[in-house]
Amino acid sequence: MSIFLHADTLIIRPMRQDDLEQVGAIDRISFSIPWPKKAFQYELNDNPRSTLWVAEANTPGRKNQVVGVIVSWLILDEVHIATLAIHPNHRGKGIAQRLILFALQDAVKKGAHQATLEVRANNIPAQELYRGFGFIVVGRKVRYYRDNNEDALVMTATEIEQILGGRLANSVLSN
Ligand SMILES: CC(C)(COP(=O)(O)OP(=O)(O)OC[C@H]1O[C@@H](n2cnc3c(N)ncnc32)[C@H](O)[C@@H]1OP(=O)(O)O)[C@@H](O)C(=O)NCCC(=O)NCCS
Repeated sequence: MSIFLHADTLIIRPMRQDDLEQVGAIDRISFSIPWPKKAFQYELNDNPRSTLWVAEANTPGRKNQVVGVIVSWLILDEVHIATLAIHPNHRGKGIAQRLILFALQDAVKKGAHQATLEVRANNIPAQELYRGFGFIVVGRKVRYYRDNNEDALVMTATEIEQILGGRLANSVLSN
């Protein structure tokens, strides 16, 4: 499944093996503790609970540029957003919102009713992003991140099918 957005300049599609290098580069530039090199490979090929989507930009000057990635795990009726990152040059364009929409929509189709994630306590952009999808803070993991001992906030969203219904009504995905 893939869908065309922004007059065919951006597509959201399942991640492929040949995306690994670009996805790894986005991860490394986005996080102070990037995933180990083989982690995305494992998620892609060996974790049956994992779903990986990428945002691919196609412009006249550059084709097939991976600009964002989201990985989620489906466990019973709960989808856990394991990682989400957008290349710094492409932030603020709604790409993360679209990746989340795809990941949640796909998870709902597979039986998910709620969603969960951890986010750094100081990562306000990400928290705002998730709040927009109905996530609320339900817990705190003290000194969770080993690089700076920052706390993690645990955020969850319930009845995600209803949240998606409202979102999709206002989204290009409904066109
Ligand atoms: C957080 C991140 C994924 C957002 O990606 P993005 O594509 O720029 O986000 P979007 O353009 O889809 O923004 C959607 C919403 O997020 C929030 N948001 C995004 N950037 C923000 C910022 N700098 N400050 C405050 N809110 C912000 C806003 O609510 C925004 O909605 P609005 O445009 O209507 O105000 C991106 O900044 C990123 O990759 N950061 C580094 C990695 C990271 O922190 N990942 C999340 C780990 S939990």
